[in-house]
Amino acid sequence: MKHILVTGGSGFVGSHLCDKLLEKGYLVTAVDNLVTGRLSNIDQAMKSSSFRFLNWDVSKPIPEDRIEFLQNHGLHGLFHFACPASPVDFDRLPIEILLVDSFGTHYAVEMAQKYGARLMLASTSEIYGDPEVHPQKETYWGNVNTLGPRACYDETKRFAEAYVSTAVRLKGLNAGIVRIFNTYGPRMRPDDGRVVTELLLQAVAGKPMTLHGGGNQTRSFCYVSDLVEGIVRLFESGEKNPVNIGNPSERSIKEFAELVLKITGSKSPLKIEAPRPDDPRRRCPDISRAKEILKWEPKVDLETGLRATLADLTSR
Ligand SMILES: NC(=O)c1ccc[n+]([C@@H]2O[C@H](COP(=O)([O-])OP(=O)(O)OC[C@H]3O[C@@H](n4cnc5c(N)ncnc54)[C@H](O)[C@@H]3O)[C@@H](O)[C@H]2O)c1
Repeated sequence: MKHILVTGGSGFVGSHLCDKLLEKGYLVTAVDNLVTGRLSNIDQAMKSSSFRFLNWDVSKPIPEDRIEFLQNHGLHGLFHFACPASPVDFDRLPIEILLVDSFGTHYAVEMAQKYGARLMLASTSEIYGDPEVHPQKETYWGNVNTLGPRACYDETKRFAEAYVSTAVRLKGLNAGIVRIFNTYGPRMRPDDGRVVTELLLQAVAGKPMTLHGGGNQTRSFCYVSDLVEGIVRLFESGEKNPVNIGNPSERSIKEFAELVLKITGSKSPLKIEAPRPDDPRRRCPDISRAKEILKWEPKVDLETGLRATLADLTSR
């Protein structure tokens, strides 16, 4: 059996990834220090004899003697997904983000090389910053403020891409870079400050729904099962150039809020607030490469995905 290590494996995306990899017959080790993840996210995975969990900060070298599957199965893949990733984390955990995207990426590359594993780096649409090109293709270099409150995240993801692509070029590392666009679904943290959870919870509570910056800024929301399918396809494809994975169905935050009102049956008023600093005005992936190379495109429509997300948020 082939063994895959997932850093950030008890987070929102990482835990769904672990479930998918187990379903495909891999042995999986999740390494996570629970800074933003939750053990309840891996309840299902923990029931599998093919799954192990290690509580560890991956900004430090991973103690290999504590990874049980390494000895007999080596390492086939290493998914580096550990990183606090929501707007509230940029304020709360900036140094932790800087460390895990720099030192964490360095140690992930070293370990992948040592075992001949394929490394998958979780990058982000944030590397495009507030984009001047629309929709965003992988060839676009981005428009990022290196000094703003989001820089700890945007710039270190850019650094991580630079580190990984250099190791591919100079050291022959086998690696893929996935540029993830806004993703939503079950297991999101209710207090993560992301627009999906914030508006759903405000609507359910009958509170005013906050539209930062007027709500005319756009986002493209991808359901988490579509995202992990794309990531696993990218892993198995062997592709080394970055690939956008996201849903190109773009809508304004105001339209999104209206859909939330419809789904929840809420009568909450919309409340306009000041824009968040450096918040991108538009965000939409060009997924031509994913379609061509991975034969992938998203399947879950926003209304279906939001109903599942709402059911999960309100059941916790
Ligand atoms: N969710 C999205 O819309 C989105 C968009 C773009 C990119 N991403 C990327 O996907 C990855 C997962 O994001 P998410 O949304 O699931 O966030 P998350 O916060 O739910 O998951 C991150 C996980 O990493 C763990 N972690 C953080 N620092 C760590 C460290 N030093 N050592 C060990 N574990 C650590 C956290 O405890 C958590 O379980 C991140 O790399 C993020 O940048 C996510």
